Amino acid sequence: MVDNLSTKSESEILAIEIAGIKFKNPVLTASGTFGYGLDFAELIDLNRLGGFCSKGLSPKPMKGNPPPRIVETHGGMLNAIGLQNIGAKAFVTDKLPLLRNYNTQIIANVFGYSLDEYIEAIEILNQGEGIAAYELNISCPNVKEGGIVIGNSPSAAASVTSAVKRVAKRPVIVKLSPNVTDIKQLALAVESAGADALSLINTLVGTSIDIYSRRPRLANITGGLSGPAVKPIAVRMVYEVAQVVKIPIIGIGGIANWMDAVEFLIAGACAIQIGTANYYDPTCSIKTIDGLLEYCKKQNISQISELVKSIKLIAK
Ligand SMILES: Cc1cc2nc3c(=O)[nH]c(=O)nc-3n(C[C@H](O)[C@H](O)[C@H](O)COP(=O)(O)O)c2cc1C
Repeated sequence: MVDNLSTKSESEILAIEIAGIKFKNPVLTASGTFGYGLDFAELIDLNRLGGFCSKGLSPKPMKGNPPPRIVETHGGMLNAIGLQNIGAKAFVTDKLPLLRNYNTQIIANVFGYSLDEYIEAIEILNQGEGIAAYELNISCPNVKEGGIVIGNSPSAAASVTSAVKRVAKRPVIVKLSPNVTDIKQLALAVESAGADALSLINTLVGTSIDIYSRRPRLANITGGLSGPAVKPIAVRMVYEVAQVVKIPIIGIGGIANWMDAVEFLIAGACAIQIGTANYYDPTCSIKTIDGLLEYCKKQNISQISELVKSIKLIAK
């Protein structure tokens, strides 16, 4: 019997579950592009979002890099914000009590420059009521180990994951860096270290030079590339990782509308995050939710999870 989709509610069609967390729809906003959520409450109805990821939180507040920190590029932007944030404690005391009033899942994005810092931040956040999960940003250098970027080394990424899993009171989503030769190896390493889910991708390292002054446009010289320009790389990485892991994947990278979101779901993501698009259209996430619902109804898809990893490969 074919379901009569017209009688199904939005949440019946769009609801998804990741690592035991129920999301009313698969649309989340990405870390660093949505502040601590509250700034956007005047622009959109936060209650409609599946969830949102906080700006990356460290145990202590951080000032970030000197300006200029953002450069526009074709189809995207480079940022070198340098993980400026208010610190985990201020997030728990100042932001969470207000955020809890909204009916959406709150994901705390966490980073550290050493294993101890990750653990310290998680222990502070464990005290906060209303956080659904942690998302670990592993695209940062480990200062105690000669500055190697944790997310570039399967063994370093696995060590951070298992150490955090030991203390975390909530599910742990590990956010993978695309700046690696084979992202599948990273995904498999953190999966066996106990990650509950993966999110990918973070930004791609790039730079931009002013041809008249011959100076880098960013004070930091390099920055992270994001926006529509990175989408094909992100879809490829989600597809590759979905072929090898069993844990759920949240797709990120250049999503600017519902059609982009559908593409990520078909490639293997269970949910998606919208990042850079929030800058030029703060209503992008809401339009994406509406578009997904419309698409499901028109395509006779009674539950959006039917789309996940539904890519049709040509038989060899
Ligand atoms: C200005 C800016 C700040 C960001 N800050 C963080 C962060 O603190 N932690 C993190 O894990 N990702 C951070 N990201 C990466 C995004 O969450 C996202 O993974 C990336 O931008 C790709 O998605 P997009 O193309 O939709 O922006 C940041 C991105 C931008 C543009």
